[in-house]
Amino acid sequence: MSLADQKATVAKTAESFRNESSVDGSVVTEAAKAVLKESQERGGGVQMQNVVKIYPGATNRALDDFNLDIKPGEMVVLLGGSGCGKSTALRSLAGLEDIQGGRILVGGQDVTGVPVNKRDMAMVFQAYSLFPHMTALQNVEFGLEIRGMGKDERRKLAMEKLDLVGLADQAKKYTQQMSGGQQQRVALARALAVNPRVLLLDEPLSALDAKVRVQLRDEIRRIQLEAGTTTVFVTHDQEEALAVADRIGVMNHGRIEQIAAPQDLYQRPATEYVASFIGLANRLPGRVAGPGVHEAMVFGQRVPVVDGSATGEVDVLARPENMTIRVNDQSGVVAGPGVQARVSAIHFLGSLVRIDTVVSPGELTRHSGTQLEVTVQLPVQEVPAGLTIGSSVIVSPRPVPAFAAAAR
Ligand SMILES: Nc1ncnc2c1ncn2[C@@H]1O[C@H](COP(=O)(O)OP(=O)(O)OP(=O)(O)O)[C@@H](O)[C@H]1O
Ligand SMILES: [Mg+2]
Repeated sequence: MSLADQKATVAKTAESFRNESSVDGSVVTEAAKAVLKESQERGGGVQMQNVVKIYPGATNRALDDFNLDIKPGEMVVLLGGSGCGKSTALRSLAGLEDIQGGRILVGGQDVTGVPVNKRDMAMVFQAYSLFPHMTALQNVEFGLEIRGMGKDERRKLAMEKLDLVGLADQAKKYTQQMSGGQQQRVALARALAVNPRVLLLDEPLSALDAKVRVQLRDEIRRIQLEAGTTTVFVTHDQEEALAVADRIGVMNHGRIEQIAAPQDLYQRPATEYVASFIGLANRLPGRVAGPGVHEAMVFGQRVPVVDGSATGEVDVLARPENMTIRVNDQSGVVAGPGVQARVSAIHFLGSLVRIDTVVSPGELTRHSGTQLEVTVQLPVQEVPAGLTIGSSVIVSPRPVPAFAAAAR
């Protein structure tokens, strides 16, 4: 994006700043209830209904009957692989893309044909889109200035926002002299300064190193909760999504496959794609006796399966933390459920240990052509004594609900 384009985009999104809200620019409410009430009064809920986006000359749909319903004050994270349509969903919501079908509502009002500057939204892009020849303060003031806000007033408001993102002492610095994390904060302060009804964040942290990323992600969530701003946050980092979202929408091929609270999504994935995209999963050969049967037999262990699971020959997607491991007593007899395997690697992850194993070929009733690797994750204190690389072990799934996919 050229500098002129950037300026135009910022100007457009900032133009929607409403003067009445400048009286109390930093809407910081006491209790969560008050926050929600405020958001509801501002009417910041969002609905995208059956939205279709086809880029000029494209044969496929970037958004294919896309549906999303966001409550006022809610933070929804859109998660999904590269090219699944996350940015397109965000840009369509902002009004930066025209759509070929469906409609978009904000606060119950149809904004489908409404231009970007009248939607009362602000967007933070992956590349910060700051003006390098301006100071941090001038960057944040910019959107307020083009709204005709007086100098003293906008300076005060911009300083408040810089303070909110922890940069009050850097206000006079040119943004080109700032670190990536600092620049990202300025971009965030600039978006917050216009007090948008809806805040759109497109991979705002992807250029940052892991530590700054975690810090800033937590800060964004804190600020978002305080201000009660309806927010859509796009990322392809699942840990980031799990950490900040009220709900996560997992996207695939231009639509949302499942949207749910992080915990629900992790524990009760509705599709194979969601189960394998969120968190790690072992693929264990199993059998579901038939339709209406809600458990699979895996390595002699009964494992409950969630709704939407396949029947017959299946691969049960079992999380590493839902596996058990015990040292094989070498008698050649496996007592109880489980199969013999050999430890191939041990990774210490602080308080947890992840153990990679390879199942003995003779244990496999179904031949998949490749060796079966099973990963087990345990708290450090639960690792069996004497376990080392090469140890002969018995691994088994726990009877914890899992998704069963059709066998590969
Ligand atoms: N300006 C454009 N013109 C034509 N096709 C586009 C354009 N922008 C995106 N696309 C296509 O639309 C689809 C969705 O792209 P989009 O940028 O929304 O993906 P994304 O989920 O944001 O991916 P990433 O994680 O890589 O940012 C892709 O197939 C992409 O190639
Ligand atoms: Mg993108």
